[in-house]
Amino acid sequence: MPENITWPADISSYCFEVPYSDQSVLFSSASGVRLTDTEGRTYLDGLSGVFVTCFGYGAEPITSAVAKQVQTMAFHPPLHGTNPHALELAERLVRLAPDGIVAAKLVNGGSESVEAAIRLARLYHHEQGRQGKVKVLSHYHGYHGATFGSLSVTGRPDVARFGPGLPGVVHVWPPDCVEAFLGVPHERSGAAAAELIARTVEAEGPDSVAALVVEPVIHLRGMAVPRRTTCPPCGRSATGTT
Ligand SMILES: Cc1ncc(COP(=O)(O)O)c(C=O)c1O
Repeated sequence: MPENITWPADISSYCFEVPYSDQSVLFSSASGVRLTDTEGRTYLDGLSGVFVTCFGYGAEPITSAVAKQVQTMAFHPPLHGTNPHALELAERLVRLAPDGIVAAKLVNGGSESVEAAIRLARLYHHEQGRQGKVKVLSHYHGYHGATFGSLSVTGRPDVARFGPGLPGVVHVWPPDCVEAFLGVPHERSGAAAAELIARTVEAEGPDSVAALVVEPVIHLRGMAVPRRTTCPPCGRSATGTT
């Protein structure tokens, strides 16, 4: 950490896309579940970064394995092959995954995974001779990332400031909005939201819908936990009619 940086720092050369203020923190290190700033203050990280440091900061054996791999081979040319550790990770993920998931695509983060999911869904239908199946349904208020496709399926009103998104994205209300806006009781909101998805697929034309992307726990709606009834009917409308 350079010693000449104090806070509020000169941030003119650092591009923030999100709002910041003088209360923003200049973090300098982290260990376990705590972060430390340049003034030596410590913070309990109740969100695990943004849900990505679930094993804590500096956790072993992760830290040593990452350092070792960076020293051994930091990159392999992806168009020319893969590497043994990547293969081993994919195999382990498939073993842990629910039945029916037979392959894992390794990516760098959440946005990239959503991009890949949209691409693979469209590719799958294209290869099946169903080139018209390109639309993607997602929930209003779900957050799916900052790259263009993932931003498009993100259903937040403030995304509009980036202009039109990916063509073919259709948003549907999630269960907690069905409760808040329409007064549907908690025990029925999951089924009602699933019904909205099914009706939307019907209205859009089942032959045009490729995939459904949902954030089961919508964190930007205050960790809106899914209703038990949501997911199975959602899955059926996506797989049964698309
Ligand atoms: C549900 C969800 N999807 C996608 C993303 C985007 O992930 P990333 O920031 O790694 O691109 C996030 C990030 O917070 C997320 O919470």
